[in-house]
Amino acid sequence: MSVQAISWTASGAVRVLDQRALPEAEIERELESGEAVADAIRQLQVRGAPLIGIAAAMGLVAGTRELRAAPRSAFLERVTQLVDLLGAARPTAVNLRWALDRMARVAAATPGDGSDLWERLHAEATAIWEEDRAMCRRIGEHGLPLVADGANVLTHCNAGALATGGIGTALAPVYLAHEQGRKVHVYVDETRPVLQGARLTAWELMHAGVPCTLITDGAAGALMRQAKVDVVLVGADRICANGDFANKIGTYGLAVLARHHGVPFYCAAPWSTVDATLGDGDLIPIEQRAPEEVTTLAGRPTAPPGVTALNPAFDVTPARYVTGYVTDRGLVQPPFVASPP
Ligand code: MRU
Repeated sequence: MSVQAISWTASGAVRVLDQRALPEAEIERELESGEAVADAIRQLQVRGAPLIGIAAAMGLVAGTRELRAAPRSAFLERVTQLVDLLGAARPTAVNLRWALDRMARVAAATPGDGSDLWERLHAEATAIWEEDRAMCRRIGEHGLPLVADGANVLTHCNAGALATGGIGTALAPVYLAHEQGRKVHVYVDETRPVLQGARLTAWELMHAGVPCTLITDGAAGALMRQAKVDVVLVGADRICANGDFANKIGTYGLAVLARHHGVPFYCAAPWSTVDATLGDGDLIPIEQRAPEEVTTLAGRPTAPPGVTALNPAFDVTPARYVTGYVTDRGLVQPPFVASPP
């Protein structure tokens, strides 16, 4: 799996693969400031719950480089500003807040001046990134039994290498099954309106040599009715204390279809996606994005000028539709408990 969604530059800035440009072009961008990282997150150049947490942590480091010679108080003041800025970039994925809170705690607890604090934050952001890579691997190992030889998996959006620091969440069991020589095939929902499935998931699966078939979002039900789907694997942006979870718009519909057709439906996520402070999914803030994402395609209008369009980026799947949660700490069967299993 050679896809690298994020890395450091030699000078402590953030290098990302611009996911808006895929699959047409593989463009790497160097983000030199916290503001540039926040913009990249807002514009979906960097996206996927775990990856935006990693990017925000690294953005905090990039944005404090010029304060290495500053006194402690000025450095910490800038950290607070950047935490607010980066934390507001997108509301639904809890990983963003989780990573920034962790960075802010480390900054406050580290003695010394700007240069000591900066070095410590650089190390912490690197640790968040490396831990995510390891968590992805463990999710893959725990989910491996769900992907039998010959399995047809259906996935939505992109919860693969492009969404994480490692081999993905929902796609991690697929990659490990493929690595072990099992025959696995993935149906990829195109994922309207921004097409993360078509542009990103199909791209990275093909890159890895995993057989896949792109389908329109509306085709999933028909395939399940024809018994062509063995298991649905999706990612998550936030899992609540009761197991309700938010993921890309369209996930809820898939879960209902899967239940109706008796297809197992799994949510895969690292523990950094669990928000034990929220009792249920109605409390998750759902990002509303620009209507233009719905009324245009590749910059061209696909709807009459002036039409009203609604564009919630995520929906909530109630826990009762979930067969199990594939986490880095193990395969969790319902009822979901938000403390460590
Ligand atoms: O709007 P996006 O592309 O950031 O949405 C991403 C998803 O919904 C993913 O499924 C989720 O973040 C899990 S990524 C491992």
